[in-house]
Amino acid sequence: MPSPPLRLGVNIDHVATVRNARAGHHPDPIRAALAAVEAGADGITAHLREDRRHIRDADVEALMRVLSVPLNFEMAATDEMVAIALRLRPHAACLVPEKREERTTEGGLDIVGTRAHLAPRIGALSEAGIRVSLFVEPEEAVMDMARRLEAPVVELHTGRYCEAVAEGDAAGTARELARIARAAEYGAGLGLEVHAGHGLALDSVAPVARLPQIAELNIGHALIGEAIFVGLARAVADMRAAMAAART
Ligand code: PXP
Repeated sequence: MPSPPLRLGVNIDHVATVRNARAGHHPDPIRAALAAVEAGADGITAHLREDRRHIRDADVEALMRVLSVPLNFEMAATDEMVAIALRLRPHAACLVPEKREERTTEGGLDIVGTRAHLAPRIGALSEAGIRVSLFVEPEEAVMDMARRLEAPVVELHTGRYCEAVAEGDAAGTARELARIARAAEYGAGLGLEVHAGHGLALDSVAPVARLPQIAELNIGHALIGEAIFVGLARAVADMRAAMAAART
């Protein structure tokens, strides 16, 4: 099967976190989204959390108005979020687990244990023309369940792999990368579009970008952090270059 071109989705949640640290509108996550697109992002990701700790409802509405690229709307599979997605109709809805006490999305969605809850919500989103993506652990049984649930896309959680890279754990890095590679190959073989994300940075992106079945990487923290030093446009361009170099 020919390898799909690799897209970069830029997650702008952290820009909203900084904005919300003070009252007011600066820095504006919408401006960051437009700058990221200008610098080569193929899509924008924003996570509207139940507690609205970073992205707010008005941000998602503004993104829907101004973006020329697809919006990947990250959301918990709650009735409130499904209703918002059905009203706004983003290109994609990425279903993620959400715990109030977590700092970030710590693991993949348990789509086996919660399949009865997920199935009608995936159905409603799909019927509205929204491309449903399930943020999951890179495991073959999970790919099987994503297929059974008729989700067209899975996003493989790369957090454990990135942690192993950051800790300099070579064995752990190889093991976690192999899990991602196996799941990507298996999932693509089932007809799923395979994305990956969480924790990816310039020092960890290449081996994941090299996996031929992966169609999209969603990256936030490393890009917004690097933007402090080099600016967002350069951070996005450097990441794109690292992805392109790995793919060729
Ligand atoms: N993909 C999903 C589904 C996520 O929840 C997140 C974190 O919000 C990311 C990608 C991006 O992760 P990071 O900010 O660590 O790059």
